Amino acid sequence: MSDFLARALELLDQGDGDAALAVLYGGLGDPDMDPVLRGEASGLLADLMAERGDALAAASHYAQALLADPDRRSWRRGHVNALMQLADREAARAACETLLALRPDDATGHRHMAFLTLEAGDRTQALDHAREVLFLAPRDLGLLAAIADVLVRADEPLMAVEALETALRKAHPADPDLAPAAVAQARAWIALGEPKKAEKSLLLALDSDPDDRTGAGALLEGLSAGADSQTLPPAFVRALFDTYADRFDRELVGKLRYDAPSALRALLDAQKIGPGLDVVDAGCGTGLAGVVLRDLAATLAGFDLSPRMVERARARGLYDDLWVGEFVAGLSTRPEGCDLLVAADVLVYLGDLGPVMQAASLALRPGGWFAFTCEAADDPDGFLLHEGRRFAHGGGHIRASAAAAGLQVQVLRPHSSRHDRGSPVPGWICLCHKPA
Ligand SMILES: C[S@@+](CC[C@H](N)C(=O)[O-])C[C@H]1O[C@@H](n2cnc3c(N)ncnc32)[C@H](O)[C@@H]1O
Repeated sequence: MSDFLARALELLDQGDGDAALAVLYGGLGDPDMDPVLRGEASGLLADLMAERGDALAAASHYAQALLADPDRRSWRRGHVNALMQLADREAARAACETLLALRPDDATGHRHMAFLTLEAGDRTQALDHAREVLFLAPRDLGLLAAIADVLVRADEPLMAVEALETALRKAHPADPDLAPAAVAQARAWIALGEPKKAEKSLLLALDSDPDDRTGAGALLEGLSAGADSQTLPPAFVRALFDTYADRFDRELVGKLRYDAPSALRALLDAQKIGPGLDVVDAGCGTGLAGVVLRDLAATLAGFDLSPRMVERARARGLYDDLWVGEFVAGLSTRPEGCDLLVAADVLVYLGDLGPVMQAASLALRPGGWFAFTCEAADDPDGFLLHEGRRFAHGGGHIRASAAAAGLQVQVLRPHSSRHDRGSPVPGWICLCHKPA
């Protein structure tokens, strides 16, 4: 081993990572270095950069190291992990394929391939890779938590629950992966419509991680809201959408056949509302409504409870103003600030529409419009929180709340804006007017 590599390792032993990095960078500056030695130094540098969370540097140093030793499994795996963190799907997939060709028993490679193939729309391949993970690493809670997420998204929540059951039972209470795995299991139970079982998993997560770094408490709070509940805790909704943000568009538009934004646009066109309006998209999510409303708007603003959703909306570059805020509180800060307020599939997270209509009325200029979709309840005059943790509202409740807030219901007709397990979910599309 060369002097500089030995010195770097010695510094690492002494806990001086910065000095070790400086020595490695210095050593690698030698253009005539033996290629094997260059590989070792690059691999060590890549490991250190990965540990420090610098995925870009880690990916580049692993690539360098692999030139010297293409079969080194730990470097291959490190390279894949770094590319996944960089969200470079194409490069990550190629690196995963190389890793699995070299080591077909690499559970981490299969875990990433399960995710990547599902992202690419190949459910069958995703499930094949997921099964390999379950076979190769049946007790690895970190891997199981990741694969449970893939299974839930691939409509196999039962497989996720079962895979985690034994592993969680046999886990060491101090295992840092226990809490994330228990939360993953809770999500699978929720997908199966089993809130009581989800609660048990969340309590296990909180037990193992009292600081609640996984957000189990917020999910638990939302689950314990009973059927007679008036509201869903905002922390629950935020936690739900923060974790959903990355796959929201694909799942909603693809799998759930979501059409609320385009249905609302058609409604506005039919009523000859716009263009040139100051529009607020309340509960804007990733900005799907912004896409169809932009050309109606002189200015387009949006807000949402979930910071990750707002981040996604911002990335579209469509909105003049975006902020994180709660529906009623968010609108109350901008009285008479808009001509058109839109809430596509948002009131399903709000129970009593009384305060919602009051806030909408306050936010609209005289002559303004409030357009929204929501789910329909059987009880015409009430609202209820159903098993899917969403509210459904009766037509009478919508009319009464609007009237109490001084809004006139211009249109209220049945419209299903999404499917659930293959069937259309009964809903409303509604347009209210604030008299001039
Ligand atoms: C089903 S998504 C619809 C998003 C968007 N309107 C669309 O059509 O794509 C519901 C959104 O409402 C947001 N939301 C739910 N309750 C909210 C509240 N009380 N205040 C603000 N946003 C809320 C959620 O964070 C989520 O982004």
